[in-house]
Amino acid sequence: MSSLVTVLVDGDVAVLRIDNPPVNALDRDVREALATALARVETDEHVRAVVLACAGRTFIAGADIAELERAAWRDGIGPDMHPLLAQVEDCPRPIVAAIHGTALGGGLELAMACHYRVAVESARLGLPEVTLGIIPGAEGTQRLPRLVGVEKALDMGLSGRPIAAADAVRAGLVDRIVEGELEAGAIAFARERVASGAPHPRTRDRTDRLGTPSESAPMLEAARATARRTKPHIPAARAWVDAVEAAATLPFERGIERERELSVETVRSEPCKALLHVFFAERAAAKIPDVSRETTALPVERVAIVGAGTMGAGIAMACANAGIDVRLRDTSRQALGTGMAAVRRNYDASVKRGRFTPEAVDERLARIHPQLDDAGFGDADVVIEAVYESMELKRTIFAELDRVASRGAVLATNTSTLDIDTIAAATSRPDRVIGLHFFSPANVMRLLEIVRGAATAPEVVATALALAKRLGKVGVVVRNLPGFVGNRMMFPYMYETQFLVEEGATPEQVDGALTRWGMAMGMFAVDDMAGLDVAWRVRQELGHFRDPAVRRPLVADQLYAMGRYGQKTEKGWYRYDASVGGGRTPIPDPDVVELIERAAAKARIARRAFTDDEIVERAIYALINEGARVLEDGGALRASDIDVVYVNGYGFPGWRGGPMFYADRVGLRTIHDRIASFHREHGARWEPAPLLARLANEGRTFRELDAEREDGAPVAAPA
Ligand code: COA
Repeated sequence: MSSLVTVLVDGDVAVLRIDNPPVNALDRDVREALATALARVETDEHVRAVVLACAGRTFIAGADIAELERAAWRDGIGPDMHPLLAQVEDCPRPIVAAIHGTALGGGLELAMACHYRVAVESARLGLPEVTLGIIPGAEGTQRLPRLVGVEKALDMGLSGRPIAAADAVRAGLVDRIVEGELEAGAIAFARERVASGAPHPRTRDRTDRLGTPSESAPMLEAARATARRTKPHIPAARAWVDAVEAAATLPFERGIERERELSVETVRSEPCKALLHVFFAERAAAKIPDVSRETTALPVERVAIVGAGTMGAGIAMACANAGIDVRLRDTSRQALGTGMAAVRRNYDASVKRGRFTPEAVDERLARIHPQLDDAGFGDADVVIEAVYESMELKRTIFAELDRVASRGAVLATNTSTLDIDTIAAATSRPDRVIGLHFFSPANVMRLLEIVRGAATAPEVVATALALAKRLGKVGVVVRNLPGFVGNRMMFPYMYETQFLVEEGATPEQVDGALTRWGMAMGMFAVDDMAGLDVAWRVRQELGHFRDPAVRRPLVADQLYAMGRYGQKTEKGWYRYDASVGGGRTPIPDPDVVELIERAAAKARIARRAFTDDEIVERAIYALINEGARVLEDGGALRASDIDVVYVNGYGFPGWRGGPMFYADRVGLRTIHDRIASFHREHGARWEPAPLLARLANEGRTFRELDAEREDGAPVAAPA
């Protein structure tokens, strides 16, 4: 008997326990072992019922995504789960799925083929496939509506969000919540069902929750509109609605055929390849060559934060939300008051949106201790400095933290531009110092750039990665080079959009082209949100345009000099008006267009019309070319790390996989040649990155490069 599935017999109930760490993915070996175990118990005359349970931290968290990825790059045909599902549902003994942790995707599909489902209260159940650009392919599209009704099924599949066990009971997905030990509860439930003498329900035979076609038609129509509005670029969203329609209108067997067609179509789609790439990229980012799995991350229960400004307050919320106790220090009562008021405002908004209950907010607020002194800093596991970008101030703070923090504490700086090693040198323990570059708003944005200094200890890197995960973020370890990864790449992209408006486009047109292409926001709107004063300061810090031969954008400095800092001054590249979208909606400003035209005329820049495609190429290829340079000098460990940074921190569409994946898909030859033509036309800033040129010549991709460099060594020795 395989160790993947253990059979334990408790009197007249057989428990089949799957044990396939870490998440009990339903891979081929598990499917085979399960089929064998089932065949054994279903002919055992002593067994009157079966419980299907899982060892470890979770019920089956899905089909094996690695198998799915292989299918995505081949013919779209994933593993055939139908024989196993039929064996389960046709089993002469009732089967009860016993769910803890998460029952997701293929895991929930298998559970729905069982006759009953019980769960612990903390369990979560869902079909998250749409977030991977696919629809469930193991009969889940046909069974979910039969269990929970068409409307709920449409909602669960379109959002991809798992639901809590209590909600699942209300919806009809789970039969009972088990208090106490799960397997014992499931066994008791199974015995009850056998004793009742009632027939054991097969989900496929049920139609009682489906309603009539005229009842489901308006629901399907509304869901199609939601799919178009919320996921316009993901074919799987529309396919999910089509599949549920099949469930509502066709017999089960025909519904399964329709599911199969739609599933193959979505698995082969480009967004699916991209989203699977991002799934694996996010997990690969946590693997650092010299930080082995054995390197222990230090436990983090107490965090101290220096600076209660926008970043400090956001970081405090992120920690409090994760159950971490926070000391939030600032130098004046006023600053602390402003910071805590922002925290409260934010939480109030979450309560209004129904994200948190008032009680949950109270618990979180109680974890944040605003203070003017260092009380408790000596007990903090991690201290995060989040003051404004001044090297002198940061060094003073780090020298002081060196005196008050415990010897083992991690000392982190939230700088987005400054040199970590210079900051670390202000302490007697540079090995404990690291950069934690949060993105604003820090309680929302998923990206955490983890900046490793020359002396940072592996254990400190491991702690930062574990903290990122605990905060629900994805940590990407980057090298301590100017601008790190994200901002370093953003500047060439930003400047290119500014050159485009000098050459004849408008900010509105550039932003429109970028958002239509898939970016969450246009570059000018981002600049206004982050603040033109901030970008100005960073430009000085990074020493851009010191070389007079490099083309310099003409307008940003002028806007800065006029005090047009963006949203906060109600004027930047756009205008803002408190009565329009709460002062956050960009309103095109003819004054800015005029300013641009005057600047261009003075500099004798010829102006012409641009198409969306030209705009996107200029902007996105600037990002890609700099990405290749980042990779070449070891700024990032892998091309896929850059993708994770851009998808999670800069609004790059996940369904395009990130800039480097996108470049692969367009073809590095094509990208290179276009960049070379920009180089001829616009000069030095467009010189193709040597790595890009090399890969294009060799006919290779960034993905292939990542695969070859799994040990993470830099492509070339840093200059
Ligand atoms: N198939 C194969 N491997 C999977 C997997 C799946 N369905 N789900 C997770 N894994 C792997 C991850 O790649 C990771 O591997 P690694 O340790 O080698 O990097 C490991 O399991 C742990 O996953 P991770 O996401 O880091 O753990 P977590 O505890 O934070 O989250 C889940 C667990 C299950 C919630 C999360 O992994 C998840 O959402 N998985 C995808 C579920 C899904 O979409 N299923 C539908 C597909 S049919």
